[in-house]
Amino acid sequence: TAADVLAADAPAADVLAADAPAADAPAADVLAADAPAADVPAADAPAADAPADVPTSAPLDLSVDDVNNSSLTVNWKTPETIGDSGLDGYTIEYCKDGTSDWVVANEELIPANHYCIKNLTAGDLLHVRVVAVNPGGRSDPCALAEPVPIRDIADRPKIRMPRALRSRIVKQAGEQVNLVIPFLGKPKPVVSWLKDGQPVDTKRVNIRNSDKDSIMFIRTAQREDSGIYDMTVKVDSFEDKATITLQIVELPGPPVSVKLVDSWGFNAALEWTQPKDNGNSDITGYTVQKADQKTGEWFTVLEHCHRLKATISDLIMGNSYIFRVFSENQVGMSGSCAVTKDVAKIQKTGIVYKPPEYQEHDFTEAPKFTTPLNDRAATVGYTTKLLCSVRGSPKPKIEWLKNQMIIGDDPKFRQISNQGICSLEIRKPCSFDGGVYTCRAKNEQGEAAVSCKLEVKRM
Ligand SMILES: *[C@@H]1O[C@H](CO)[C@@H](O)[C@H](O)[C@H]1NC(C)=O
Ligand SMILES: *[C@@H]1O[C@H](CO)[C@@H](O)[C@H](O)[C@H]1NC(C)=O
Ligand SMILES: *[C@@H]1O[C@H](CO)[C@@H](O)[C@H](O)[C@H]1NC(C)=O
Repeated sequence: TAADVLAADAPAADVLAADAPAADAPAADVLAADAPAADVPAADAPAADAPADVPTSAPLDLSVDDVNNSSLTVNWKTPETIGDSGLDGYTIEYCKDGTSDWVVANEELIPANHYCIKNLTAGDLLHVRVVAVNPGGRSDPCALAEPVPIRDIADRPKIRMPRALRSRIVKQAGEQVNLVIPFLGKPKPVVSWLKDGQPVDTKRVNIRNSDKDSIMFIRTAQREDSGIYDMTVKVDSFEDKATITLQIVELPGPPVSVKLVDSWGFNAALEWTQPKDNGNSDITGYTVQKADQKTGEWFTVLEHCHRLKATISDLIMGNSYIFRVFSENQVGMSGSCAVTKDVAKIQKTGIVYKPPEYQEHDFTEAPKFTTPLNDRAATVGYTTKLLCSVRGSPKPKIEWLKNQMIIGDDPKFRQISNQGICSLEIRKPCSFDGGVYTCRAKNEQGEAAVSCKLEVKRM
């Protein structure tokens, strides 16, 4: 209470009075005389447990609902912070552009979150703001970002994006891009374009607008033209937006390198690495070619290979092969390729040839699968074949299993293993032939197995 404050202050005055020499006594008197004044603010201050009325925070997101040549309807959102004093209502104010004579549009506070300002003058350009009011007073105002012309809008702006342009647009580098995007709007909308949130480079992208469409034109597309283009059509405070995604693709680069990792019998195993540049489009596969060193003539041995390795079989005894690999994407095959440094010599004797680094393992080696089995789907009634390759010395014994059971001399199956290539043919499969198939290779050094799932589908 005020009395407490005074009482608490009193000793301080005493200290001053005690400290003061006799001559200074009047000063102490002055202090004493001031003391009652100190209780004036104390009396004014509300009791500490009754908070003062405070205005709300500003209303939010003021925007234009509708406009014609004599009225303007706006709406907004309730302030975020209202507090204990509540909210009595809103007042809507406007002033002509270039002046600061704010006119209150509503005589009484309104409780709703929208208001129609009537009896306006056609042709005026008006700033509008809304203020929330409560016992604490006026909130900060929320104003429209731009002044609104008071005029009839016959048609709201609306983009009519053609169906073909609604999904990603893919073009090849060097091609022309010519997109026509119609829109509605009266009076004539103002059209603007952004690329990846920045103004478009008009040196590269030509934009031509009429009163009913916008044409985006690129004479010779380059990869840098790829991106997200945002188009906006605007009539005064009304707008519509649409997005176009452009992807410019080109041929991929070649695989970074290719290596001959093994050769045995009539086979060679290759491994390569994906290209540095995918041409701005996913790599769809690889093409592998072989050439006998003597002729230097290239032949394609594998196309659309999805993996980064392959075993090339059926090579000819006595020949020495080099290999090369091209990358593929939706545009086509890379212009250049990666070529093997090492040569695969297919020995006349048929004795397993190993490049030097493998030589110490030549004579005894546990089986090792160099090509695994892949899961696959077959169609009922259509013969299918499972393939894998294995190496090992001495030559491993091969066994096939279906769902962990050894497949014996069942005429349904044909098992062939030749030069490390193992195949299991499944003749005219029915749905019972689906399951997990395993190829097991054993020799004195050890054993290895690979498995896959076979699904047999009806047509
Ligand atoms: C303008 O809009 C207001 C509110 O929508 C409406 O009451 C009024 O009749 C309209 N005036 C004209 C001339 O269309
Ligand atoms: C406003 O619009 C109405 C109806 O569209 C029209 O009759 C009137 O002449 C217009 N007034 C002005 C001042 O443009
Ligand atoms: C509209 O404004 C004019 C001129 O400002 C005024 O004479 C008229 O009474 C107003 N009409 C209404 C309905 O408020």
